[in-house]
Amino acid sequence: MTDRTTRPLVIIAAFAGSLAAGLLIVLWLTGGFRSVTAPASIGGAFQLTDQAGRAVTEQNLKGKPSLIFFGFTHCPDVCPTSLFEISEVLRAMGKDAGRVNAYFVSVDPERDTAAAMKEYLSSFDPHLQGLTGNAEAVAKVISSFRVYAKKVPLKDGDYTMDHTALIYLMDRDGKFVSPFNLKRAPDAAATELKRYL
Ligand code: NI
Repeated sequence: MTDRTTRPLVIIAAFAGSLAAGLLIVLWLTGGFRSVTAPASIGGAFQLTDQAGRAVTEQNLKGKPSLIFFGFTHCPDVCPTSLFEISEVLRAMGKDAGRVNAYFVSVDPERDTAAAMKEYLSSFDPHLQGLTGNAEAVAKVISSFRVYAKKVPLKDGDYTMDHTALIYLMDRDGKFVSPFNLKRAPDAAATELKRYL
């Protein structure tokens, strides 16, 4: 091709490119981009064990909406607060509490054995299930849910975990819906959750 024939194509390509870029910016600003991409990119196959030693996989997400929270039993503040708030929502659900999954997934499998999870969760709503597994299984679920979790050494030789404190709302098909807001009255949160039953 000569320059004469390629130049209009270059101009058209540049124009199409700027339109596409503009559309992406609009989607990003309106949040449309997130709703288009998020359901496909958050979640996936996992194989974990609950505090009673039962296997729990992504198949258990099907048929019920799920709240999923990642944390660890040695967490000093965020985790107990969130688990308390989730417990309040489950209490506000009344008899429908059994129709949702509420999972506390450990990001610290080294210390969070099924027995440690059982002991820890005894302080919270009995519908909560604590999921843990070997390091590989936990790393996989952390990665598929795009959770940030990092070991932070403490001065005394102990360690803590920095981690995402997001509550994931999944629908009855096991698909990610949105982060679930706990910073409101438990009744209001329960009303929203009931819409996904
Ligand atoms: Ni925590």
